[in-house]
Amino acid sequence: MRLKSVLSTRFIGNILTKMAVLLGLFSALLFVSEAIFGYNVNSTIMDSALLECSVPVKTDLKNLRFYWQDERKDVLYSFNKGEKMFNHVNDPYLNRVSAFTQDMTKGNISVLVKNLTLGDNGRIFEAYAAVFNGSKTVMQNSKVCHVNLYVTVPYKDLKLAVNTKTSVCTLHDVFPAPEIHWTIHYNHSESLVDSKYVHTKTEQDPENYLYTSSSTLHIPAGPYRAITCLCHNPTSNTTLNATYTLSKGAAVWSLPGWSAGLIVAAAVLLTALMQL
Ligand SMILES: *[C@@H]1O[C@H](CO)[C@@H](O)[C@H](O)[C@H]1NC(C)=O
Ligand SMILES: *[C@@H]1O[C@H](CO)[C@@H](O)[C@H](O)[C@H]1NC(C)=O
Ligand SMILES: *[C@@H]1O[C@H](CO)[C@@H](O)[C@H](O)[C@H]1NC(C)=O
Ligand SMILES: *[C@@H]1O[C@H](CO)[C@@H](O)[C@H](O)[C@H]1NC(C)=O
Ligand SMILES: *[C@@H]1O[C@H](CO)[C@@H](O)[C@H](O)[C@H]1NC(C)=O
Ligand SMILES: *[C@@H]1O[C@H](CO)[C@@H](O)[C@H](O)[C@H]1NC(C)=O
Ligand SMILES: *[C@@H]1O[C@H](CO)[C@@H](O)[C@H](O)[C@H]1NC(C)=O
Repeated sequence: MRLKSVLSTRFIGNILTKMAVLLGLFSALLFVSEAIFGYNVNSTIMDSALLECSVPVKTDLKNLRFYWQDERKDVLYSFNKGEKMFNHVNDPYLNRVSAFTQDMTKGNISVLVKNLTLGDNGRIFEAYAAVFNGSKTVMQNSKVCHVNLYVTVPYKDLKLAVNTKTSVCTLHDVFPAPEIHWTIHYNHSESLVDSKYVHTKTEQDPENYLYTSSSTLHIPAGPYRAITCLCHNPTSNTTLNATYTLSKGAAVWSLPGWSAGLIVAAAVLLTALMQL
């Protein structure tokens, strides 16, 4: 028993040592990745994205070499000892990436990517730089920045169609796919609708990558006053909403059949007109 416990202690000690080594490695890795400036840039289609990066050395342009590439190793921009290397730039980035020559001597090697397309969405960009002083290497060629780019096609024209039992919210040709939620407003409160009452269908156009999303709410019975459809865009971190208010209050919803349908349609039309 004693031997066994000694063994197991040693075994645990061994594991602890291994864990410590692993932790050490892990924190070394963390340290390295912390040393590299990594962040997200979220922008809009046709707009531009500033990929910011700087090296901690003041230098003559003649002594600076840097390039940016994406995760496919396609080169966006290449600068060597005072000259932009146009012939190193790959097709998707031709004529739409520029740097800031006047700021480079301060170590600013940021580039601006113009006319963004959805093909740029999700790309990972890395900047590598080296600094020399005559024949001496001040800074060895190394990765200095890491940027994730996300592109959005903004949400607009949210359509909300309401009838007695269901309500349908539609968003056409957007990117990325929306996160849709519904809220129901009572006279003195509002609540998020349980997802069991909601059915959302999202389709992507294989040609232009745009999403069309349609969310159907099976309106739960209750004395409510209005319904709101909320579409969250995770890339722009904004939420578009559309609300239908029942001008006559909750009673309208409990009326069965045709007349209710007509009243609701009228209320919907009125609300729509009032919103114009
Ligand atoms: C680099 O220069 C550009 C253009 O002047 C500026 O917008 C950007 O903030 C600078 N970036 C850094 C990291 O200094
Ligand atoms: C931006 O890209 C689109 C699609 O690739 C192209 O039609 C348009 O001419 C470009 N605009 C500019 C200013 O480069
Ligand atoms: C480059 O070298 C010269 C002389 O060796 C020195 O005075 C200068 O500070 C160096 N510059 C950098 C950026 O290291
Ligand atoms: C909500 O308010 C309206 C108008 O103020 C009223 O007619 C209706 O009875 C109220 N509904 C409930 C459930 O309190
Ligand atoms: C940028 O977009 C990504 C992808 O949609 C998202 O995960 C991230 O939260 C966004 N960042 C900000 C600051 O909104
Ligand atoms: C999105 O915006 C909200 C406020 O509108 C903010 O609290 C939240 O931190 C933002 N999320 C991201 C990922 O930036
Ligand atoms: C709906 O959007 C408007 C602005 O468009 C905003 O003022 C309002 O707070 C939003 N409502 C909800 C429930 O998010």
